[in-house]
Amino acid sequence: MSAIVIYSSKSNNTKKVAEAVAEQLGCESKPVKEAGDISGYDTVAVGFWYQAGQPDPASQEFLATLAGKKVFLFGTHGAAVGTPPAENGMLKAKELAKDADIIGTFSCPGEVGEKVLKMAAAKDPQPPWLAAAPDAKGHPDAADIAAVKAAVKAAL
Ligand SMILES: Cc1cc2nc3c(=O)[nH]c(=O)nc-3n(C[C@H](O)[C@H](O)[C@H](O)COP(=O)(O)O)c2cc1C
Repeated sequence: MSAIVIYSSKSNNTKKVAEAVAEQLGCESKPVKEAGDISGYDTVAVGFWYQAGQPDPASQEFLATLAGKKVFLFGTHGAAVGTPPAENGMLKAKELAKDADIIGTFSCPGEVGEKVLKMAAAKDPQPPWLAAAPDAKGHPDAADIAAVKAAVKAAL
């Protein structure tokens, strides 16, 4: 198996998870903007952060290029795990990578900065993920990192 982790991360939450995935896979991790030619890899783990209920735009573009690859998807979000705002973003990622073989998925909360919380709170209506966002403080934590490693192990 030749694997690589490609991730997008604005405030490092997804980067932390990406590094754990890479450690578990025994491979390198790269930001999506530096992904380059991935034709030599059969397995690609793709990490994204949630924006407007979806994978961030750079990840969306990348997810559409993975036809024929084994793909492990992971994301971080302000939303609570298992709630519609978290689930729907992962569904969107799966839809974008529909020509890939999705071998597993994982998502966990990622701390949302104060400025972003304030901006989101000023919106009318407030976004559906905002209510749970204060609980994302301190995430990804050690338990999230252990959980993503277990999810990768199970996917292989
Ligand atoms: C502009 C912006 C939009 C966001 N939109 C959402 C969203 O729609 N749903 C959600 O659950 N979290 C949302 N968040 C929270 C981030 O997805 C979350 O904090 C994530 O862990 C950030 O990852 P990063 O540190 O890798 O950039 C948003 C954050 C920002 C900055």
